[in-house]
Amino acid sequence: MRTVLEQMGGESVVSDVVTRFYEKALSEPRLAGYFHGTNIHLLREHQTRLFAGVLRGEPAPVGQEGAGTPDPGIHYDEYGLVIGYLADALRESAVPETVLSETLFAVAPLARDVITVPAVAR
Ligand code: HEM
Repeated sequence: MRTVLEQMGGESVVSDVVTRFYEKALSEPRLAGYFHGTNIHLLREHQTRLFAGVLRGEPAPVGQEGAGTPDPGIHYDEYGLVIGYLADALRESAVPETVLSETLFAVAPLARDVITVPAVAR
């Protein structure tokens, strides 16, 4: 069976998606602050590798060494924004809808390690 990475068209498509994704995240006022002081060039490279690995079915090294834990902590809302921009970036890179869904399913289990601030009742 072909991996999600193969269905998507390989690492060059992932690199394209990641570039588009950071353009969006950095122009979003609710997210940009998290990336102050971050070397975006390096982050893009690392994320392309991480993402390609996840889409190949490899376990993600999130929550272990190398995973960023930016201040002031990530809530579910910011996570949701990021996933929305990821979906937009995938569509703009002409990734088919079925592969887009598979990609979001592959990323979804990582939420537990990414969201650092527990939800509170409002
Ligand atoms: C599926 C969702 C996400 C995954 C899998 C993920 C994973 C990671 C990983 C593995 C790194 C380290 C990369 C490296 O070694 O260079 C990282 C860095 C970072 N992430 Fe995420 N992340 C996610 C969502 C988010 C969200 C929602 C935010 C903020 C709202 C965020 C902000 C950051 C920042 C600012 C860094 C860089 C920290 C630094 O400067 O070292 N991430 N992320």
